Amino acid sequence: MEQAGATAGATGDGAVPATAETTAKTTTEPLLGIGELSTATVWPASAVVAPGGDIAVAGVSLAELAERYGTPAYVLDEDEVRARARAWRRALPDAEVVYAAKAFLCRAVVDWVEEEGLGLDVCSAGELELAATRGFPADRIVLHGNAKSPQDLRTALRLGVGRIVVDSACEIARIAAQVPGPDPQRVLVRVLPGIEAGAHAKVRTGAEGQKFGLSIADGDAADAVARILGQSPLELAGLHCHLGSQITDAEPYAEAVRRVVAFLADIRDRHGVTLPELDLGGGFAVAYLPGDPAPAPGVYARSITEALAEACARYGLPLPRLTVEPGRSIMAQAGIALYRVLAVKRTGGRVFVAVDGGMSDNPRPALYGARYTVRRVGRASAAPMRTATVVGRHCEAGDVLAEAVELPEDIRAGDVLAVPASGAYQVSMASGYNMTGRPPVIAVSAGRSRLLIRRETFEDLRQRDVGL
Ligand SMILES: Cc1ncc(COP(=O)(O)O)c(C=O)c1O
Repeated sequence: MEQAGATAGATGDGAVPATAETTAKTTTEPLLGIGELSTATVWPASAVVAPGGDIAVAGVSLAELAERYGTPAYVLDEDEVRARARAWRRALPDAEVVYAAKAFLCRAVVDWVEEEGLGLDVCSAGELELAATRGFPADRIVLHGNAKSPQDLRTALRLGVGRIVVDSACEIARIAAQVPGPDPQRVLVRVLPGIEAGAHAKVRTGAEGQKFGLSIADGDAADAVARILGQSPLELAGLHCHLGSQITDAEPYAEAVRRVVAFLADIRDRHGVTLPELDLGGGFAVAYLPGDPAPAPGVYARSITEALAEACARYGLPLPRLTVEPGRSIMAQAGIALYRVLAVKRTGGRVFVAVDGGMSDNPRPALYGARYTVRRVGRASAAPMRTATVVGRHCEAGDVLAEAVELPEDIRAGDVLAVPASGAYQVSMASGYNMTGRPPVIAVSAGRSRLLIRRETFEDLRQRDVGL
């Protein structure tokens, strides 16, 4: 486990106020040099060690948040989200930065993304409708999906989204037939460049033999391009590719650029059209454990823009307008999960610390073997640290939240645990398993907290159960 002052914030000086609703006395540290330096910290930049074994984020005590809102609960540092969104815009000033809503979306996040000048990548009518409730500009929305439902397409076309990403040949005619007005719908073709990248087989989407995209190698992408060019209600704006998730190295992006630009040249040669847009998707890595490789946006940006300039020069193509779709790298570090310990079991030479959440609010360890670090907050002691396994409360032996973490030996029921790097793909993937109810999401900023999403109650669950 990381040492308090080293990773729980830049200024661990104990000057943070102990109450949840007072204005912070320390100013929030900006993500210093995020365009240049490693971003391999697991906590938000505002996190500081507070008295009594606590941590304060944006000037708000995590222990007090657990008390006030109950547990499990998710805390989201608004300024961290905004700083990371800005860092991407600074790293790629000429590109479009589109936030991948699947990482986490609520109405407040829609507003933050809009105010920071980003676009929005959605993959369902639900995400689209939520964005529309806040008046998010539809032309800045990109609709994805390997299997778009009739409702997804109807909603996208009614709202007039900027681009629809075609993921299979059979949806081309469906989209074309539904375009409402005289203006053509802009579409991108999602291509498979045949590149293996990403932290786990289940999140590698740039290689052949999985469900996403249209292969360049076997000609499916070329067939889709030809079909779209023959549909007057559609305007083929460019190509899209998304390699996967937690990609810790910029080189796969550079290689994807080379392969996709070669395909752009092929399209020009065959059809005489020069496509103006190239969307490289997301997948940029974050640190889940202290020291995990997590290149800053500037590192990816440099590699991508250099490869793009070189490849376009080689094929005599103008530079296409670039789009990137970061999700995790904007949201993960801004979020902290809070749990209360329900039981501590010492058995078979191991210590199991069981908490009041688990795979229903964070399925990532069970899905991908994801690792986390954990810290007790709100109770200091001189007890030595011991290796423990933090498990959830669900009826699965695989409901393990964090393997081999260091926790104080005197850990006991009632203690509060904080799990950093919890902002992405946790609440958005939460399930109703065991009817425990999905957790609330609380925003913190400038020493204040506010509820963004309330806890799901038993009454919510009962109301959906409408038949006997
Ligand atoms: C098409 C597309 N774009 C962007 C993303 C965002 O990826 P990440 O959150 O890893 O940046 C995803 C994630 O699955 C995706 O499928």
